[in-house]
Amino acid sequence: MPLSERNKQYNKSPRGKARSQRYRKSCKGVKSNRVRCSRKLEKIRADPERLAKHQERKREWMKGKQAADKVKNDPRNMTCHPVDSEHAIILSDLQIPWEDQQAVELALKFIEWRKPDTVIFDGDIVDCYAMSQFDRDPTKTDSTLDELYRSEKLMQRIKKIKSVKKRIWLAGNHEDRWRKILWREASSSKLSPMVEALMHGLGIEGVDAVESFRRAFRVKENGFEFHPYGHYVELAEGNLIVTHGFMVSQHAAYTAKRHFDRLGKCCIVGHSHRLGFYPVTQMGDPKGAWENGCLARLDPEYVQFPNWQQGFSEVRIKGNLFHVSQIPILPGYKIEFAGRTLRV
Ligand SMILES: [Fe+2]
Repeated sequence: MPLSERNKQYNKSPRGKARSQRYRKSCKGVKSNRVRCSRKLEKIRADPERLAKHQERKREWMKGKQAADKVKNDPRNMTCHPVDSEHAIILSDLQIPWEDQQAVELALKFIEWRKPDTVIFDGDIVDCYAMSQFDRDPTKTDSTLDELYRSEKLMQRIKKIKSVKKRIWLAGNHEDRWRKILWREASSSKLSPMVEALMHGLGIEGVDAVESFRRAFRVKENGFEFHPYGHYVELAEGNLIVTHGFMVSQHAAYTAKRHFDRLGKCCIVGHSHRLGFYPVTQMGDPKGAWENGCLARLDPEYVQFPNWQQGFSEVRIKGNLFHVSQIPILPGYKIEFAGRTLRV
C-alpha cells in the first residue's frame, strides 16, 4: 500500500483522529492554523470579487449564529439537555463565597471514591454577592473576583478526576443575578461604558449575559458546560429531571413535592438547602422527587439558625431505571455510606 494511502487510513482511525485533535489544540497547531487562515485571507483580500462573497458569507454566518445563540442562551427557554450517564453525582447550593469548605472537601473526597462518569452542579454554586439587591457588607469588595477564583479551583479539582467524563453547571437563581444586572444595564438608553468594556474584554458583541458568564468564569476551559437558569438535565432516558428549582417551602420534602406536582416527573432540585424525599406511587409505578441539600455554611450573614441540611445526591442509572441515594453530611463532617466512613 502506498504511504499516502496508509497516512489517509491512519488519519481516519480513532487513534489518528485523537492525534490530530491533540495537534490542533496544541500551541503549534493553533499557530499553524492561524498562519494558514491569514494566508488564505490575504488571497481573498487581493481579489475584490472573492472579498465581497466572503463578507456576504460572513454576514450570513453571524446572523445564523446570533439567532441560534439567542435560542440557546435565552434563560426563559426551558431547554432540556439529555445526558447519557450510568453514574452521576449532583452537588448544589455552595453559594461561594459562603461555601462550607470542609463540606465541599468531603463531597470531593466522595466523588474521588465513587468515580462517577458525570458530575452536575445543580445551581447556586456562586452567590454573585456583589450583584445582590439585598443589604450587602460594604467591606466585602472583592467578592466577585473571589467567586471567580474559588469556583475555578473547584472545577479544576473535578476535572482532575479521571472517571468524570461529563461535567455540567446548571445555573440557579444566584447565577441568574449576573443576567439580571446586565439586562438592566442593557435596557437603559445607553450602555454603560463599564459593561461595554467588560463585553469587549470578553470578546462579545453587544450584551450576552450567558456567554459572558461562561467566559468570565472560564467554564469551558475548566471542562464544564454551563446552561442558564431554567434549563434542565434529563437522566435515565428522560425519567429523571435535574434542575435548580424555582419554589421553596418551609419544610423538607415539601419543595420536592411542589416541583413533582408542577413538572409531573421525577426530579432532583436544589434551591431549598434542605434534604428531602417525596415518594409517590402511581398505578404501581414508584416515582419520587428529591431535595438535594446544600454545601453552604450553616451560619451565613443573611439568615440566623437556618433550617438547612448539608448533603448531595448520587444517582445510579441503567437504561430508563434509576436509583437516587441522598448523602447527608453528618455532624463532625463525616459521611457514612456503603459500609465506609469518610472524614476530612
Ligand atoms: Fe437557589
